[in-house]
Amino acid sequence: MIDIFEDQDDASTPLTPDEKKDLLPTYIMTRGELNRAEQRNIFKAERWAFARRRNVLDEDFLRDLHRRMFNEVWGWAGKFRLTERNIGIDALQIGPALRMMVGDTKAQIEFKSYSADEIAARFHVRLVAIHPWPNGNGRHDRLATDLLAVQLGRDRFAWGRAVRSHDAERHPQELHRRDPPGGIRSRLPADARFHARRQRGLKASQRLAII
Ligand SMILES: Nc1ncnc2c1ncn2[C@@H]1O[C@H](COP(=O)(O)OP(=O)(O)OP(=O)(O)O)[C@@H](O)[C@H]1O
Ligand SMILES: [Mg+2]
Repeated sequence: MIDIFEDQDDASTPLTPDEKKDLLPTYIMTRGELNRAEQRNIFKAERWAFARRRNVLDEDFLRDLHRRMFNEVWGWAGKFRLTERNIGIDALQIGPALRMMVGDTKAQIEFKSYSADEIAARFHVRLVAIHPWPNGNGRHDRLATDLLAVQLGRDRFAWGRAVRSHDAERHPQELHRRDPPGGIRSRLPADARFHARRQRGLKASQRLAII
């Protein structure tokens, strides 16, 4: 995030040697400098990504997107993680899982299995669950999902930005509460609840009845 809201103390906190591992620019000493460098890098990647129609449903593209988002700052840009996290699948399964996700999403589009927004949301849930990268997963999975939405003729998602109060009855928690037993929510991966929080900021027209 741009750090107009960032706590000044936090912005000037020096990075520890451990946090500097794989950090490319030698001038970066503090969290504020790091945030700004990452933000610049990501803006550049976003401009590149939205400059023309992209096919997001391609493992090489997803990798290239992560690389472009972080390549000026981190040595791990565009590289799959090799170690386990408290979220995400076995590191050795990342490649095959991405391939399967891409294939399934293509099939959902071809057979019009769900609305465009729901296809994009399901893609997001899958990508979150795979957690392919050592870091930057959230930023990459949100951008990739936005690109898929745009590829499918929809707007970008709002990702938790302010929701107007009169939209409250379409709040995902409410949709979740009304979902019948065996309803769509029970068929989603376990991280759907987390995903529901991410959906909070969607425009009413984009809100999904899946959670
Ligand atoms: N308990 C959880 N359940 C589901 N998803 C999670 C959970 N914890 C983390 N995540 C996912 O991992 C992302 C954070 O991973 P990572 O630090 O690699 O990404 P980031 O881009 O640096 O962070 P952020 O999303 O905060 O900008 C979250 O955005 C979310 O997608
Ligand atoms: Mg992170």
